[in-house]
Amino acid sequence: MIDIKKIRADFPILSQKINGKQLVYLDNAATNQKPQVVIDSIVNYYSTFNSNIHRGVHTLSQKATNAYEEARIKLQKHFNAKKSYEIILTAGTTHSINIVATGFSSLLKKGDEIIVSALEHHSNIVPWQMLCERTGAILKVIPMNLEGELVMSEYDKLLSDKTKLVFVNHVSNALGTINPIKKIIDKAHNIGAAVLIDGAQSCPHIKPDLQELDADFYVASAHKLCGPTGVGILYGKAAWLNKLPPYQGGGEMIKKVTFEKTTYADSPHKFEAGTPNIAGVIAFGVAIDYMNAIGFDNIASYEDELLQYATKKLLQIEGLKIYGTSQHKTAVISFNINEIHPFDIGTIIDKLGIAVRTGHHCAQPIMDFYNIPGTIRASFTFYNTFEEIDLLYNALIKAKTMLC
Ligand code: ALA
Repeated sequence: MIDIKKIRADFPILSQKINGKQLVYLDNAATNQKPQVVIDSIVNYYSTFNSNIHRGVHTLSQKATNAYEEARIKLQKHFNAKKSYEIILTAGTTHSINIVATGFSSLLKKGDEIIVSALEHHSNIVPWQMLCERTGAILKVIPMNLEGELVMSEYDKLLSDKTKLVFVNHVSNALGTINPIKKIIDKAHNIGAAVLIDGAQSCPHIKPDLQELDADFYVASAHKLCGPTGVGILYGKAAWLNKLPPYQGGGEMIKKVTFEKTTYADSPHKFEAGTPNIAGVIAFGVAIDYMNAIGFDNIASYEDELLQYATKKLLQIEGLKIYGTSQHKTAVISFNINEIHPFDIGTIIDKLGIAVRTGHHCAQPIMDFYNIPGTIRASFTFYNTFEEIDLLYNALIKAKTMLC
């Protein structure tokens, strides 16, 4: 059960007024808000034990190292990775994808094929296009249908002995569709291809079991999980992490440096060059604890109620069209009203205190598929309320009246 009053009291930002109105924050797919415990963790780190990690025998450095490594273990447990060294701490999902895409430069050859889906965020398209430019590999695309779902029969046709890698998101950021990733992974494995799952949009709603899923790589960001920006994970199966070359050269990623030859540390350090976001990683661990204390099953069922209520309510607005109508969705509603530009509606409802994202959501191929410039996207999370959905509805009616 979600105790909404208690939960909302954990988030200081939610009691703010924006443009003189109570903030209604419905841009959670872009980044969600941070509970006081996460904010306190960052303040506490800088106030009491700020120090560099893995680099000192002094007390503060050891305390910071322990807290950092404890966060890694929390993440290992949360995502159910077999080993803690399979969890690489990165600057976020985009950074994680780039580590893998760059690493595959030495593993692919001309004519190899890699498969992406039509539902991806640009960050799970562009790094792979760059990989194709470097290697001569060919990018194939699993198409989508009007409901915003992947056409799995077409996926079957794309798979062949040339396929080396498949990379799809678990949930579409623009539409909220939940993709059948277990099926996608199993089919790829049947022909010997590896799979990367982009969990950026699913991780706030669905707790994945990486060993059961059997994904080769999984990437996610802390800031979608009530943690800070600038932190994320790259999970890779140990065998893959051994095979991939390092992404960046630098400090603690080495075994031995001489001017003649440098040898690299084992994972995770091989991929963690430079001083990391220590406060951010520790706060990520606190955020994971916070979310788990609420419970992902509770979160998912409450958000589903919000989604059903909001869908029904918004569809009462004449001329409102929802993009992404799969039965398998997280609490995201992407829509337009008549031919009104999403930016105009977003600007008006912001004056009423309502925060939504407008535009192409870094998923231009999806907008091209629907032949629209963009959408208004309301994305809900466990601290949103049914009253906030009513406020969104009222604001949209007002905007529509002003703009039509
Ligand atoms: N990927 C984030 C979003 O969908 C930023 O808004």
